[in-house]
Amino acid sequence: MDYLQTYLRSIAQQTMDEESINLLSLYLAFIRGMYITHQQNHWLAKNYNDHILFQRLYEETIPLVDGTAERVIGLCQVDSFKDFQSIASKFAPKEKSILSLLESSLEIERAFQKLSKKVYDTLKEKDTMTLGLDDLIMSQSSVGESHIYLLQQAISEYKTGPVEKVIE
Ligand SMILES: [Fe+2]
Repeated sequence: MDYLQTYLRSIAQQTMDEESINLLSLYLAFIRGMYITHQQNHWLAKNYNDHILFQRLYEETIPLVDGTAERVIGLCQVDSFKDFQSIASKFAPKEKSILSLLESSLEIERAFQKLSKKVYDTLKEKDTMTLGLDDLIMSQSSVGESHIYLLQQAISEYKTGPVEKVIE
């Protein structure tokens, strides 16, 4: 068998293992959950600045959801999706205050960074990472890092501000 044939056969045999598929499905559900969290916080934030901040966060998360879903379906042939609602409810604001809304979005963004690192490291280790997926995970983490920066700024402004902002 010549080199080319051996090479083509090895490519055809390269499939995603179960752990990589599970992690990518979780990664997708997590991004959908994050989108829901930011959008719900947007609806609950009645003061203009925070309302607009949460709008920016959920709008910037939409392309991540779509890009990830298409990539995961294409690479893993999954047709059932993990429960994203339970992820969103895990990070729901603990009380009805603007600070709590900001902390809820910040916590899910921080957890997203941790999960992204775990997905990235595991796929690299298992040699199931593709060049496109590598690029996707990195660029999406970069979007998340800018969200963390914005949320931290908003929280520090809130904490040094004169008035406690409460919803209702
Ligand atoms: Fe809106």
